[in-house]
Amino acid sequence: MTITSASTSTSTDSLLIDGRQLIGREWVPSATGRTIDVINPANRELLARIPRSDAADVDAAVEAAEQAFPAWRDTNASVRASIIFRWADLIEQNADELDQLESQEVGRPSWGPSRLPAQLRFIAGQVDKVQGVSLPTYSPDTIGFTLREPYGVVGAIIPWNAPGAMFLNEVGAAIAAGNTIVIKPAEDAPLTPLALAKLALDAGVPAGVINVVTGYGSEAGAAIPAHPRIRRIGFTGSPATGSLIMEACARNLTPLHLELGGKSPQVVFADADLDAAVPAMVAGITLNTGQICAAGSRVVVMRSIHAELVDRLAAEMQKVTVGPWHQPVTMGPLINEKQYDRVLNYIELGKQGGADVVTGGGVPQGDLYGNGFFVQPTLFDNVSPDMRIAQEEIFGPVLSVIAVDTEEEAIAVANGTDYGLVASVWTQDVGIAVRMSRALNAGQVGVNNAIGAGVIGGPFGGYKNSGFGRTMGADSVLNWTQVKTVSMRSATLPQF
Ligand code: NAI
Ligand code: MG
Repeated sequence: MTITSASTSTSTDSLLIDGRQLIGREWVPSATGRTIDVINPANRELLARIPRSDAADVDAAVEAAEQAFPAWRDTNASVRASIIFRWADLIEQNADELDQLESQEVGRPSWGPSRLPAQLRFIAGQVDKVQGVSLPTYSPDTIGFTLREPYGVVGAIIPWNAPGAMFLNEVGAAIAAGNTIVIKPAEDAPLTPLALAKLALDAGVPAGVINVVTGYGSEAGAAIPAHPRIRRIGFTGSPATGSLIMEACARNLTPLHLELGGKSPQVVFADADLDAAVPAMVAGITLNTGQICAAGSRVVVMRSIHAELVDRLAAEMQKVTVGPWHQPVTMGPLINEKQYDRVLNYIELGKQGGADVVTGGGVPQGDLYGNGFFVQPTLFDNVSPDMRIAQEEIFGPVLSVIAVDTEEEAIAVANGTDYGLVASVWTQDVGIAVRMSRALNAGQVGVNNAIGAGVIGGPFGGYKNSGFGRTMGADSVLNWTQVKTVSMRSATLPQF
């Protein structure tokens, strides 16, 4: 499937939805008719147009979600589960097309076999296991228990870096719990979310249970936490936008979870198996062109192996091939011009701040790169912990190396940013592994593991400014429920 131009109709056999968004059972343009161009970041060609929605469209979506809510809430859990399992089956049947769609809009090479069906099945398996507890009572004429109930209409705002997984993460869990949802995908990567919503309808998710409103963050996005009848919010993105979302939620007293990225350290001890560590660390910062919240962007290394590690990281980074997603490359472009300018600006800041460029440090040259947002994988050495490139999330393929002398210093440097999403330790010493697992301030710790991957159903979320709340775990559906305590007394038994 190659998409080179926009068409105005929604094809029934393709998963590319052009110019429309999903409100209730209808694929509709924005109320104003305005659109946003979705661009291929490898060459700036138009992939599709999406509605540029605002508060009026969000309001229409909330209405549709409210209408759908009672019946969806009251659909028995086995049936809700089977519908979501069917959705996972359709995602599996369409995995190649979904992967291509996401590759095009995000600009990444294929990620291989899709994890999306397994992700959704993990959620679907929780639907019929949402249970309350029975409670002790003061007298035998009373029984007490809790009910786990959905909130009603909920909202989510997701970023562009992994739109498919982000969409299922929020929508899957929210509707599994019996909520109906209004979700705004990122303006740069809305096509995979729209395709997944189409498959949800095909699978039998009733109209209005999932509503996808597209548009800019400041317009459609801001209208979601500002809406008084949206009862819970999930957000993934930048800390600055997370603060705005939380302020708006505060005004409406709306609960929320936030996942806000990281500056994740990779702490490398002298005994580490560098044959395993080096490729994993380079993959961890170049996968998705470094645009991953969990990317391990700081290497904190014991001085005794510092020089050797830098040499090996540089050699490994030079093996990374850069180019358009459909070529046999390992790394694509950045998502957009803003991100391109941001990453190049950080590279400049690193140079000005006195860090040494070991490899990369600019943009690749050649016909292949044309108009795309390509940057070189870049390794900085002799970075000091207080430099901006060591403190701020770059969201690009830029790795900073900081040498330390002791375990205590390693812990202080590793924990010395405002973030706390992921932290990795590379060692073969169980004592170090145990101490570091406890000492690192992060929601996820990987031992001999770059991104915290390899685990099924690990709760995911941040410490400190990386956010709060956990998704993806065995209680991800419970997190979209509220607890009601019921005390029930018999009218016929004697009262105590
Ligand atoms: P962003 O946080 O502004 O965008 C994320 C989502 O929020 C998008 O859907 C956007 O439309 C929406 N949004 C933006 N402003 C909003 C507002 N006022 N109200 C409601 N929704 C709003 O992030 P952006 O600008 O795309 O990227 C900037 C930086 O954020 C990146 O360089 C990276 O450091 C970080 N980021 C972190 C992510 C993560 O996975 N934690 C994902 C994306 C970005
Ligand atoms: Mg784009």
